[in-house]
Amino acid sequence: LKKIAVLTSGGDAPGMNACIRAVVKASLHFELECIGIYDGFQGLIDRKSCVLDYAVVNNVIQRGGTILGTARSQEFRTTEGRQKAISYLKELQVDGLIVIGGDGSFTGAKILGDEYDLPIIGIPGTIDNDIYGTDHTIGYDTALNTVVDAVDKIRDTASSHHRVFFVEVMGRDSGFIALNAAIASGAESVLIPEELTDIPKLAESIKTQNKGKRGSIIIIAEGDDAGDAVTIMNKVKPYLPDYDLRCTILGHIQRGGNPSAYDRIIATRMGAKAVELLREGMTDKMIGMQGDLIVISSIEDGIKKESSPDLSKLELLAQLRTKK
Ligand code: F6P
Repeated sequence: LKKIAVLTSGGDAPGMNACIRAVVKASLHFELECIGIYDGFQGLIDRKSCVLDYAVVNNVIQRGGTILGTARSQEFRTTEGRQKAISYLKELQVDGLIVIGGDGSFTGAKILGDEYDLPIIGIPGTIDNDIYGTDHTIGYDTALNTVVDAVDKIRDTASSHHRVFFVEVMGRDSGFIALNAAIASGAESVLIPEELTDIPKLAESIKTQNKGKRGSIIIIAEGDDAGDAVTIMNKVKPYLPDYDLRCTILGHIQRGGNPSAYDRIIATRMGAKAVELLREGMTDKMIGMQGDLIVISSIEDGIKKESSPDLSKLELLAQLRTKK
């Protein structure tokens, strides 16, 4: 093994830079050349890369986003697109590829590995935390804290105005961010894609919850079956004519910002581990965290198997609800 390449793909996530840094520093430690591919798989098609050395990754551990750029490449989904990517990889003469991204990126990596015999290691980086084989993905902890911080602020105005706020959070079709943000922010209710939404029941619970309180917070995962936060608020409205309802969509603020200490730590450990796995001649593996242990699974499991939040947390929230 002489030369490896690294790319970030899909939605950016805080901690990706800490991970790139660890990949680069671990590579240089073992005297491997490290190439950075710009803009995910699209960069392979567009032939955009750079040599990564200490100077490039100094002072990036604390920065959000990804210094390499990222993309959701449509062209890479086509055989022609992948052929272009493969020809660039051949030209670069890399002996291994590290892909930092979510399950869509892992799917791309797997197909690439099937079409071109190149060792590939996946590192889970997405705020959604929806990847099987790891308790936590890089960026999730930071995003969760961003959401909780925002909800705390919304709570101030909700209680001042005696309003009910419907707060929509990201997570695509997964409820990790919503469920855990609801617990951490003391939300009155949470709606997640993993549980069917019952609008009359939600309205009833808002009424009970709101008694004696100055305001309420309902956290809504963007992938909820009843629709987005505005739709849900409008569905609830007829049941609560006397209530002042408001909606906030947190949006991409959840993807930005400096990574938390936890995200920096797992990103650093996973990045260095990926280099180690390539040095050991492994391929098609995904790195994950189980508790504080670093674990290895197949990239295929990461793509095919489902990961869902612990639904007993819904019961916990129900127990903590105001009864009268
Ligand atoms: O996967 C991360 C994520 O932020 C999801 O939570 C969200 O659904 C999606 O990306 C938004 O993607 P985009 O930034 O491409 O609109």
